[in-house]
Amino acid sequence: MTAAGYVTDVVYVPGFYPQMSPVAIRYVAALNGVIPPQTADSFRFLELGCGLGRCLTTLAAAHPRGEFVGVDLNPDHTAAVARDIAAGKLDNARIITADFGHLPDDIGVFDFIALHGVYSWVAPSVRDQILATARERLAPGGLLLVSYNAMPGWAHLQPIRGILQQYAALRTGDSAQRVRDALAYVVFMREKHAKYFEDNPRAAAYVDALVKQDPRYLVHEYMNEHWTSFYFAEVAGAFGQAGLSFVGSLPVFTNFWDLCVRPEFQELFRTTTNRLVTEAHKDFCANTAFRWDIYGKSPQMMRSPDDRLRKVDDLHYRVARSDVTLPYQANLGVVTSTVQGPLYQSLLGLLSHGRSMQLSEIIAADALRGTPSADLVRAIDAGVAMGLFDITAGPVGDVPATLPESVSIAHPFNRSILETDSLGGRSLALASALSGTGHTVGDLDAAILHELVERGRDGLSSRVATRLEASGRTLQQNGQPVADASQRSQLVEEACKAFIATSLPELVRLGIVTA
Ligand SMILES: C[S@@+](CC[C@H](N)C(=O)[O-])C[C@H]1O[C@@H](n2cnc3c(N)ncnc32)[C@H](O)[C@@H]1O
Repeated sequence: MTAAGYVTDVVYVPGFYPQMSPVAIRYVAALNGVIPPQTADSFRFLELGCGLGRCLTTLAAAHPRGEFVGVDLNPDHTAAVARDIAAGKLDNARIITADFGHLPDDIGVFDFIALHGVYSWVAPSVRDQILATARERLAPGGLLLVSYNAMPGWAHLQPIRGILQQYAALRTGDSAQRVRDALAYVVFMREKHAKYFEDNPRAAAYVDALVKQDPRYLVHEYMNEHWTSFYFAEVAGAFGQAGLSFVGSLPVFTNFWDLCVRPEFQELFRTTTNRLVTEAHKDFCANTAFRWDIYGKSPQMMRSPDDRLRKVDDLHYRVARSDVTLPYQANLGVVTSTVQGPLYQSLLGLLSHGRSMQLSEIIAADALRGTPSADLVRAIDAGVAMGLFDITAGPVGDVPATLPESVSIAHPFNRSILETDSLGGRSLALASALSGTGHTVGDLDAAILHELVERGRDGLSSRVATRLEASGRTLQQNGQPVADASQRSQLVEEACKAFIATSLPELVRLGIVTA
């Protein structure tokens, strides 16, 4: 097993990324006219470089009919994943300690392969192994998701990565100590007005973001020997050589060039159909720094709009937030777009109270009678892109008007995550088999939920406040730590009330909490 220049002395941070969910990947394929793998009965999902495995395990808990295999070379990572698999009773998940060049022969082929935070950070030889894995292990019709640091958004930041790495190489200690020293040096250079920072104010501002990061994240982002950022065409070329073609990208809005590119640049997009060209221009117009791209092996194209109803009608749509009103505005980086009008008003009415519906049900709804189905599908897709609507794996339930005093958590995985990670200082994701993905809650909300299911509502806020004091986790208000204990208790009480009023019903709707 070889790390090929990838850091192994410091463990990474846990994280869940909804982009990794088969629901999101399948939706983007459908949006781009590609028939995605079916997931209703069974499917196989491989994650390369799964780190602490929170995507793998959360998705395994959310898709009991899928089979999930994770690979990572760091045994400390895989031991943590194995613990989560055992505690969560995930008999549909398997973790393998190996480098990508030495995958076990018996792992077979997969409907989905996903790798996040890997492709830009590994040696060229390891990228070749990833491409070979894609070629050999992705089933025909399968989809692959790859994320990477992109150009031109990284252009003004690359020198910071260079100086961090060069300075760290002069220091002693483990990678976390060396990256801390290197970052302190970069801060010093900025304070002393090194000309690079004078000439590149956005790079100077970026240092503030770095200082707030967990050193373990900084190690894995910046300390790898072979860190690279890519132009879209380079990655598309490499996967093309491996027999895969570009399908689309996440987040969903990136598939709509008019949501990414200001009107004055849109002529090229109207006249050019070559996606390789338009993606490159889009990245330039939007100064893209990070991409999540989906590739397909021998993708089967939809032949008519009805194919979407025939092949992907298991997906459901719902209103993303209960407080949404029209006109609804979204700024997705460069362009501000507005959603309004009677069609969206009817859709919001139809999908009210957190209810989800299939595309075919929406098309057949009385409230929308007379609207051509193509217009409806377009409106739904644009609404998803702008964050007005969400996609779920299946029907999402209703919530009783009054929730009972006592609630429980059915899935052992969610119980074990709450037990280990509440008040850990970072948000955590709970798995929903109804939505087919993870739902992120803050670590204070996680502690409130944990107390609620363990010991009920009586004295809830004082129990959470006691736990907070014992944990040493600081509470912040307006970006400042709250020093006064009674003010902290007050904030905890407000957090408990808000949790019960808004977050709890949503968790019940998603089937994460049972009422
Ligand atoms: C930045 S981390 C991302 C982890 C995870 N995907 C996430 O987003 O939280 C990259 C991971 O790839 C693993 N890795 C790097 N090179 C590898 C290789 N050649 N074979 C297997 N795993 C590798 C590292 O150990 C690390 O856990």
